[in-house]
Amino acid sequence: MTVSLVWAQDLAGAIGKANAIPWRVPEDMARFKALTGTGSVIMGRKTWESLPAKFRPLPGRRNVVVTRNRAFDASGAEIVPGVREALDLVGGVASIMGGGEIYAAAMEFATHLRITEIDVFVDAADAFAPEIDTDVWTVVELGGWETSKTGTRYRFVDYQRAAR
Ligand SMILES: NC(=O)c1ccc[n+]([C@@H]2O[C@H](COP(=O)([O-])OP(=O)(O)OC[C@H]3O[C@@H](n4cnc5c(N)ncnc54)[C@H](OP(=O)(O)O)[C@@H]3O)[C@@H](O)[C@H]2O)c1
Repeated sequence: MTVSLVWAQDLAGAIGKANAIPWRVPEDMARFKALTGTGSVIMGRKTWESLPAKFRPLPGRRNVVVTRNRAFDASGAEIVPGVREALDLVGGVASIMGGGEIYAAAMEFATHLRITEIDVFVDAADAFAPEIDTDVWTVVELGGWETSKTGTRYRFVDYQRAAR
């Protein structure tokens, strides 16, 4: 399996607020696009709904939405009742693209974490990244801090699961 969890978080691990991403860093979006390529992306129902209608399904990629609602209408995506089912559907190679509930449920399957750290603290955030256990995860690439064209600082940090 190659299962990458891809997220951006603030300095306290926040990833979302009011079903939106509370910063604007286009360079992170560009990296997300490059990392997800033409592969499969797996997301929770709320993250699917957070995408502007004109951007969903994400083009060029197989979009899979996790929901307990079998009747959920996610036009252009496939729906599944759990993360395991999503991974089975796509043959075990995928990017997990959020949100908080789905990252937490997917952590046990993850082989890689592709994190963007955003140099802010978000007030009243309501979605969070899972904890990264340093006994389990090793940093394999630590980018330097860069400044977005929007003025926000960010850096990329990649982890791999330690051999087990
Ligand atoms: N910063 C980032 O990188 C990033 C990336 C993505 C999203 N986000 C943000 O994250 C927030 C959304 O995250 P969230 O945690 O609220 O929602 P979410 O993970 O996107 O979706 C939650 C939904 O997924 C389904 N679900 C969750 N666990 C499940 C399980 N074990 N089995 C089956 N279905 C399950 C349920 O759908 P049903 O209720 O339909 O059953 C649940 O309501 C937004 O603010 C979004 O902008 C941030």
